[in-house]
Amino acid sequence: MKKLSDILEQRVSQAIRKTTGQDFPAIVRAAADPKFGDYQANGIMAAAKALRTNPRKLAEQVVAVLEIEDICQTPEIAGPGFINLRLKDEFLAARLLEINIDKERLGIEKIDTPQTVVVDYSGPNIAKQMHVGHLRSTIIGDCIARLYEFEGHRVIRQNHIGDWGTQFGMLIAYLKKQNPQVLQDPASVRIADLEQFYQDAKRLSDNDETFAATARAEVVKLHNHDQQTIGVWRHIVEESRRHYQPIYEQLSVTLKPEDERGESFYADKLADVVKQLREQGLAVESEGAVCIFPEGFFNKEGQPLPFIIQKSDGAFLYATTDLAALRFRIDQLHADKIIYVTDARQAQHFQMLFAVAKMAGWTQDRVELLHVMFGTMLGEDGKPFKTRTGGTVKLKELLEEAVDRARRVVDEKNPDLPQEQKQQIARAVGIGAVKYADYANNRNSDYVFSFDKMLAMEGNTAPYMQYAYARIKSIERKAAGKDVDIEGELANLAALSFAEPAEKELAKILVTYDQAIQAAAQECRPNYLTAYLYDLSQAFSRFYNACPVLQAQASQRPLRLLLCDLTARTIRHGLKNLLGIDVPEKM
Ligand code: ARG
Repeated sequence: MKKLSDILEQRVSQAIRKTTGQDFPAIVRAAADPKFGDYQANGIMAAAKALRTNPRKLAEQVVAVLEIEDICQTPEIAGPGFINLRLKDEFLAARLLEINIDKERLGIEKIDTPQTVVVDYSGPNIAKQMHVGHLRSTIIGDCIARLYEFEGHRVIRQNHIGDWGTQFGMLIAYLKKQNPQVLQDPASVRIADLEQFYQDAKRLSDNDETFAATARAEVVKLHNHDQQTIGVWRHIVEESRRHYQPIYEQLSVTLKPEDERGESFYADKLADVVKQLREQGLAVESEGAVCIFPEGFFNKEGQPLPFIIQKSDGAFLYATTDLAALRFRIDQLHADKIIYVTDARQAQHFQMLFAVAKMAGWTQDRVELLHVMFGTMLGEDGKPFKTRTGGTVKLKELLEEAVDRARRVVDEKNPDLPQEQKQQIARAVGIGAVKYADYANNRNSDYVFSFDKMLAMEGNTAPYMQYAYARIKSIERKAAGKDVDIEGELANLAALSFAEPAEKELAKILVTYDQAIQAAAQECRPNYLTAYLYDLSQAFSRFYNACPVLQAQASQRPLRLLLCDLTARTIRHGLKNLLGIDVPEKM
């Protein structure tokens, strides 16, 4: 099924070409006000301007040759030359039926020209607890990967974990010191609390010069691939993975261990990156360090800003690794597009990284590089989110609290459900609420993390959406109880007709799901999708208040059952398939 807006665009463009003999974009958009119809073509004014003709007259000529009567009522011309389009009931009904047939994709076609899209997200740092910043990258990145995949692109997820660097010296030295048996049998040593482990190692390394020297020696050993040191390092990485992989699963995040390609992977490629950039004359020595000065970047004093790729002691940096990763993704993964999902504080790093990749000729005007950034999660006091004592909030505990709070609500509202089902709902609602609240915000803004708001049954929240879904499911269960043969009625939907405005309003939103997905993917903005789902469920509420379903006249009931079913399936698809949020059948 072609996108409705594309079909309209094409028809109007054709008419413009017929009239003027030239190509001008029709610019068809959903009408802002239903008074003016459902869609509006805005391209006539620009075309008229280019042709130095009267826009209103041009609009009349275009409308005269516009072949659109299978889709729209007679087009109207408004203002200086807008063409207003109003969908015909028959067309709308036929669209609904087409969506209905496709159980899997709701009638949404895959894209004609799929690309290879690398999505770099999550990237936790080994031996540290994941913090709230990693939560945002993890779930926003996951939604983007799901959106692109659904559109038909080949998506390669990359988890750029921080598993290399000097902090490993102290971690390895500390583990060896505390648990010498790690050398014999790494698997026998469990790191009970990663955060504590990291802090203890750091404290020791800060206060004990002998230990610090051992730690530095371990870095050298690590970089020289000393067997024993590598063994301990690998063990620390695995212990960390045991910490974050369950969090991914709890969050329904699609990252798998095989998506991991951490900093260590690029360690042996860094020298070559520096060499190449030097040979190209891009990298130069400055105050002992090797730097690149991409055009247009200045420090506060107005001096050119260096992108440092090797320190004077020979050490490579985060930037060097990112250059190696970028080159790898283009050369080896054949990326057409690379999307990096991190917080806004890394904006300049990525701007400079992309500038250098272009200077080096790696992107060749073919590869698109995108930094999808996001703001900070704030506490209710408006300051960056912290525990009451000012510590970093552990993600695991945050999610547990969300589920506990949701459980209390479920216990209150649904005391009679079996324990296991209550817990399942609590999990879906609690985790869903945390994810949805994040998605529903414009990602560039900071937002206040509030359990009360995100767990509210009213407003643009996960529980509201999940409840809307469960309510429709309960209608369907009631129908089954009344021996209403939904499948049978839906199979006989040859002639649908709209009796109530609320039916049509809901139908019009249902047929634009594809547009919402496209917009969300294009701009990497999950909030476009949540806004759509919220609109949809509100339109459903209005419909359901205005139109009896099971009690409807026999001639009205099939359409209404269809509207219920498609609304439920769209909500479910949006929440579950694209946002990774569970939808319980009962709430
Ligand atoms: N580990 C990094 C951090 O915690 C995130 C990695 C982002 N990806 C990248 N290619 N730099 O900030």
